[in-house]
Amino acid sequence: MPIIEVNELVKNFRTFRRRSGLWGSVKDLVNRKYQIVRAVDHISFSIEPGEIVGYIGANGAGKSTTIKMLTGILVPTSGSISVQGLVPYKQRYQHVKKIGVVFGQRTQLWWDIAVIEALRLLQKIYEIPKPDFEARLKKFEEVLGIADLLNIPVRKLSLGQRMRCDLAASLLHNPPVLFLDEPTIGLDIAVKSSIRDFIKEINREYNTTVILTTHDLSDIEHLCRRVIMIDHGRLIYDGDLKSLKDRAVGRRRLLVDFILPIDRTGLEKVLAEYPVEMESNSPFHWEFIFDRKKVAAPEIIGQLLSKLEVKDLELENPKIEDVVREIYQQGRPAAP
Ligand SMILES: Nc1ncnc2c1ncn2[C@@H]1O[C@H](COP(=O)(O)OP(=O)(O)OP(=O)(O)O)[C@@H](O)[C@H]1O
Ligand SMILES: [Mg+2]
Repeated sequence: MPIIEVNELVKNFRTFRRRSGLWGSVKDLVNRKYQIVRAVDHISFSIEPGEIVGYIGANGAGKSTTIKMLTGILVPTSGSISVQGLVPYKQRYQHVKKIGVVFGQRTQLWWDIAVIEALRLLQKIYEIPKPDFEARLKKFEEVLGIADLLNIPVRKLSLGQRMRCDLAASLLHNPPVLFLDEPTIGLDIAVKSSIRDFIKEINREYNTTVILTTHDLSDIEHLCRRVIMIDHGRLIYDGDLKSLKDRAVGRRRLLVDFILPIDRTGLEKVLAEYPVEMESNSPFHWEFIFDRKKVAAPEIIGQLLSKLEVKDLELENPKIEDVVREIYQQGRPAAP
């Protein structure tokens, strides 16, 4: 049974379009012109309990808008959402008790009070029994390293410190579903990695379902087996990370150092039968770019080794960054 079901979800925003100049402003006062922006465009997916799903897409793709609808902050224009059997924007009170939310761009905590006071307030709001509260707090102190931060007012925390406290706050009531919108934005490597470990541990221990948006694709590689990618509000990929890589990156790159210098004409002769492109910034070092569907790396390597003196070679593995850049740039749906 899916824990989250989204069906043909649509969100339109009506935005006010300003006209330029003074006369434009006067006209705007009298007769406002509106424009409809479709931020989410007929998206459907379902998520099983215990999954960690990466929800990715370029800036403005509609990720935060989706998360806001899933968490009940925004009302969909059309389509349906069910999270743990509830309709988020209709049953907000019951819904928020069963989810955790972190928006990396802004804190959920109260700015002027100490972290521990904020956590105690949340304990009251969520009606968390004292022993549970104490036990979880202890765990978060350990795993997120927040013990020293508890008595500091939220406004005095650094971004990384605040983010760790925000995560603790979002999980105090042990929600079965956790929404994270850019939880690692602007964080240093060490904090990023402790946050990733924490998410992994929570998922393992409590089988928490996690939806995560991020622009840091190494977050995705560390945490998510499944990826949902959206582009201009539309779903363009839903599947496992590995197939996404395999499918999208047809192009591979082979880097070769030669013992003796060689020019393009010489190489073109050696590789005449193989469909490869060549690039170089030195006659000792060449890079061969080829489509793995047309030619296999061992064939090219074999040919080079048999005809030329090779000092070193390296076959680059497709990087998730390249895959995603390729897809964002082309904006085309990857076939499911
Ligand atoms: N409250 C709003 N009013 C009008 N338009 C909005 C509003 N919120 C978002 N949009 C528009 O909807 C689109 C999707 O925005 P959204 O914030 O969901 O993108 P995103 O994928 O989260 O991007 P980012 O990676 O930059 O966070 C954008 O074109 C944005 O300008
Ligand atoms: Mg966003």
